[in-house]
Amino acid sequence: MSLIWLNLNNAQETRHGLQIFNSLFMNNLDSIVAYFEAAFREEIKKIGQTVPQRLYEPVAYSLMIGGKRLRPALMLHAASMFTKSIDHVLSAAMAIEIFHNFTLLHDDIMDKADVRRSLPTVHKKYNENVAILSGDAMCILAFKYFSMGNEVRLHELLPLFTTTALEVCEGQQFDMDFETRDNVIVEEYLEMIRLKTAVLIAGSLKIGALLANARQADADLLYEYGINIGLAFQLQDDLLDVYGDPDVFGKKKGGDICANKKTYLLLKALEACDEQTHKELNNWLLKSDFEAEQKIAVVTAIYDKTGVSDATRNLMRSYCDKALFALEKVAIPANQKNTLIAFAGEVMERIK
Ligand code: IPE
Ligand code: IPE
Ligand code: MG
Ligand code: MG
Ligand code: MG
Repeated sequence: MSLIWLNLNNAQETRHGLQIFNSLFMNNLDSIVAYFEAAFREEIKKIGQTVPQRLYEPVAYSLMIGGKRLRPALMLHAASMFTKSIDHVLSAAMAIEIFHNFTLLHDDIMDKADVRRSLPTVHKKYNENVAILSGDAMCILAFKYFSMGNEVRLHELLPLFTTTALEVCEGQQFDMDFETRDNVIVEEYLEMIRLKTAVLIAGSLKIGALLANARQADADLLYEYGINIGLAFQLQDDLLDVYGDPDVFGKKKGGDICANKKTYLLLKALEACDEQTHKELNNWLLKSDFEAEQKIAVVTAIYDKTGVSDATRNLMRSYCDKALFALEKVAIPANQKNTLIAFAGEVMERIK
């Protein structure tokens, strides 16, 4: 059924029992998230009832506790920019969200994170073995859902999905490698976040566009938009890790500082600070035994002093500009780009 271009006076019930309204009034992603969520919850319920319970219950737990559903929303929205009917994109949208949550399950083990979306992470609620195997199952489920409903274009789209999925793993390994390296440069950090975060956002948009039979050139431009938005998105994630409100962000503060993540903030601080501060910062990076609260407080104070959040915000702005530049070239009427234009602004301002 058509999500877009429905008549406002004639709000219709989709097969998922959701009220969908006219796109003219839908200038953000909320309606599409609601549309996705209703369908996705049905699938999660089925998954959660499968045995062995110890394998599938944690899968359902991690999928049910929410998250912004950004990637499926972007995929479905990208499709809606080129076609009226987007129901056939739902399976791939679910696949991308399941894959994303799989990466989070394993990421939380690797980052020793206890809290996500304000709830215990899977390895804390259950245990590490459960989180590893449930994560594996999610990765497989992601490919299962991706191959459902898109048989005609599967041979063409599967390589895009597999390449993207592998790139995320590559980025994740770079992220881990960098924890123990002291010579990471900004270009390496940017390539790492392109891989671990941006390609999945970009891939979501491109797959959505291609499933709606967009021209290759337009799909590629949306990919370019997504890469730049994704870079800004991860930069904001790194900022929120230091400056966010844990109650809103849903993750513990200072995890990146404790793990010696080579974020843009840290690299810029090392670059901008005086000799004595440089020594102090390096000492903290070398300490294996420390009070988390104390390390977070000292490093945050150095970030404050060196003005690295402003530098980060400026870089984010330049990526958002590049994203909008790519979007401008997509060959569809300008008013159909409003949601993605607004989204670039939302990425800059997001607090969760
Ligand atoms: C978290 O992604 C991981 C990053 C790439 C920063 P999101 O911020 O999209 O996480 P959820 O799904 O909304 O919780
Ligand atoms: C996550 O990066 C990227 C992934 C591929 C999972 P982070 O480690 O910064 O994500 P959060 O902050 O834990 O969500
Ligand atoms: Mg991580
Ligand atoms: Mg993490
Ligand atoms: Mg993070």
